[in-house]
Amino acid sequence: MAAEQSCLCTQGFTLFGILVAAYIVIKQTWNILRGLRSHILSRCWRTDLKTYGQWAVVTGATDGIGKAYALELSKRGLNVVLISRTLEKLKRVAVEIEKETGRKVKYIQADYTSGTNIYHKIEEELKGLEIGILVNNVGMKLSEMPCKYLDTPNIEKMLNSLINCNIQSVVQMTRIILPQMVQRKKGLVINISSEAGNRPHPMALMYSASKVFVDFFSRGLHVEYKTQGITVQCVMPLFVSTEMTFQMKTNIFVKSAAAFASEALNTVGYTERTNGCLSHSLQSYAANLISDDLYYLLLESKSIEEYFKNMNTSYKNKDK
Ligand SMILES: NC(=O)c1ccc[n+]([C@@H]2O[C@H](COP(=O)([O-])OP(=O)(O)OC[C@H]3O[C@@H](n4cnc5c(N)ncnc54)[C@H](OP(=O)(O)O)[C@@H]3O)[C@@H](O)[C@H]2O)c1
Repeated sequence: MAAEQSCLCTQGFTLFGILVAAYIVIKQTWNILRGLRSHILSRCWRTDLKTYGQWAVVTGATDGIGKAYALELSKRGLNVVLISRTLEKLKRVAVEIEKETGRKVKYIQADYTSGTNIYHKIEEELKGLEIGILVNNVGMKLSEMPCKYLDTPNIEKMLNSLINCNIQSVVQMTRIILPQMVQRKKGLVINISSEAGNRPHPMALMYSASKVFVDFFSRGLHVEYKTQGITVQCVMPLFVSTEMTFQMKTNIFVKSAAAFASEALNTVGYTERTNGCLSHSLQSYAANLISDDLYYLLLESKSIEEYFKNMNTSYKNKDK
């Protein structure tokens, strides 16, 4: 009797083990197939972005990822509205894009750190345009170098600026542009979050927390509006070589802004939540296999701090 019971028990455990193993294999295979579809298949069969509407609006569009999105969107047949802080840069980039692609380019000067008073002007300037795509790209760090929350230089002002720039801009620009998309039953909102929004990032805490907001807002908004013809895509890059990352050298891990924007735009229509490119998706996949404890141990290691310090110093000395 006891032997029979023990045999049943063993069979039960074996069956449980097989089911768990099958679940893991199926889940991982599914993830790999989805990844291949988003990053490989999408290179051959791209969504025609012109079908969303004639114009795309990009925030933070004169440099880095935003500029790359604006250029790539106009290469794919859309007219673009650039929104950024510095007028000279806006004029220069507008001419650059017009010359290279032959598309129409408008620009609006606005500083997203300065609160809600800028949105009335933006709304007025966008009136009458058929906006098919909104790229909420603008974003900033709380401090130039990673530091603990209370060690942030000029913390009171910087907190306001970051919340206005990284969060307020996303919800306000969406409030302004989404209604006409809903009316036409067509539209694409791309929100640039960050892999830093995947788990709390000590030493860049407010930045990572603001990016979680972007991710949650995007996912919820997509669920609310997908039946009305709206796609909301959240893009969570790792390292892209821009001013924000001290123009770090590109390699298999660090993408150039142009390559990143092109790959990320290919994923439209394939996924609503992405790291944007194959390299970043693989890095994110690997990072998520590491436990929080080990991850924080690596992040807090002196060598990483030194690496960023050196990168910052050599970047500052570059033009001297
Ligand atoms: N680079 C990365 O590795 C990385 C990784 C993950 C996520 N991201 C996210 O990607 C987005 C773009 O980052 P990036 O690296 O491309 O940044 P970036 O190179 O620093 O470019 C920032 C752009 O935004 C504009 N901008 C900055 N502050 C502004 C403000 N207050 N009001 C209006 N425009 C402003 C800048 O224009 P002006 O020069 O005129 O100020 C510039 O055109 C951000 O949301 C960032 O969090 C970046």
